[in-house]
Amino acid sequence: MTIAPDEVSEGGEITFAWTGADLWRSTLREDLQYAYRLDGGEWSLYSGNMIRSFEDLDVGAHLFEVKARDLAFNEDPTPAMMPFHVVPQVWRSPWFIGLILGFVVITGFLITRIIVRDRKLRQANEDLASANETQLLQSARLVSLGQMTAGVAHELNQPLTVVETTAGDIYLRLMEGMPLETDELREMMENVRGVVDRMAGTVDHLRVFSRDVSEEPRQAMDVNEVIESGLRLMGTQLEKHGVNLVLDLSDALPKVWGHPHPLEQVVLNLLSNARDAVDDRAEIEEAGYDKRIHIQTRAENNAVVIEVEDNGIGMDETIRQRIFEPFFTTKDADRGTGLGLSIIYAIVRKHDGQITVESEQGVGTMFKVVLPVVA
Ligand SMILES: Nc1ncnc2c1ncn2[C@@H]1O[C@H](COP(=O)(O)OP(=O)(O)OP(=O)(O)O)[C@@H](O)[C@H]1O
Ligand SMILES: [Mg+2]
Repeated sequence: MTIAPDEVSEGGEITFAWTGADLWRSTLREDLQYAYRLDGGEWSLYSGNMIRSFEDLDVGAHLFEVKARDLAFNEDPTPAMMPFHVVPQVWRSPWFIGLILGFVVITGFLITRIIVRDRKLRQANEDLASANETQLLQSARLVSLGQMTAGVAHELNQPLTVVETTAGDIYLRLMEGMPLETDELREMMENVRGVVDRMAGTVDHLRVFSRDVSEEPRQAMDVNEVIESGLRLMGTQLEKHGVNLVLDLSDALPKVWGHPHPLEQVVLNLLSNARDAVDDRAEIEEAGYDKRIHIQTRAENNAVVIEVEDNGIGMDETIRQRIFEPFFTTKDADRGTGLGLSIIYAIVRKHDGQITVESEQGVGTMFKVVLPVVA
């Protein structure tokens, strides 16, 4: 047998070719005749054919045999034998199926592990986010207490001066034996009581403001009142900075859910940013620039909108994209911590609200806070 493949794929074709020789040389090679059989079946008829193909054989071991005869019909007693195998196609072979199964199992295992880890990671991230938010709100209280203290100092200064000058006046007159009419004294004391009441209110404000309200139930609140309360602390300061404050508060405002003090913090932080922005612009502007801050409230689609707009220094796009990041600031260390807006963001989110900003460098900035109304 000259060509003797020993393996063929399932469904494939296998071809045997052979030639023979008469040992006694009485028959020419081309006169020899051959018979063949497959797997011990019937022998074929003798012919000069020296090639035979098979197709679609069953998977497994096979045996092909060829024998020769000469012109005198002498048969070769020992047929040539060619064992061969039909092997399954690769995707049907057990090792391939095993490999794929193994691959599927390993991939499944890895995917499950990834999913489990992803879940754990998400959970950890959520825990971290809520921890961060709590910490942020905690820092919020500290930062705004600082702002509040500045406000309180301004607020207390003026009434204290009134008390001091009145007391000084009375003392001087008594020392110098000057007459003091009862009516005049009453008027002076009423004046003092008035400013002392105002001071008590301011101190009370500070006390209430610094209370932790995170555990307290939400209440329906009037946004305008919150803004007015904030302005009682910042108003004097803005005046001192020469800011022209325009108030445009809607008198038909529905109530929103929440805590007035954190919300007042939002207003105070926005106002202190606006104050810094107009101050910064004033530093680089020619004369004739008027510092202006505009606060507007209005009802809009089941929500209350608070807009705080300034004609300050404005921001470029790169700054605008980062302003809500904790500790992002363009201000000197003694002027800004970079926490203000991240705190505002956390508070507004806790109120299920949204905060957006529009700004143009050198023109101004507008922050818009949207809070859902009480259903
Ligand atoms: N009204 C505004 N006009 C222009 N830039 C603003 C305005 N508000 C915020 N920014 C920019 O956003 C940055 C971040 O503001 P944010 O209130 O978070 O921190 P801060 O004001 O720098 O410091 P902090 O509020 O903690 O004292 C500011 O440093 C400023 O660059
Ligand atoms: Mg700020």
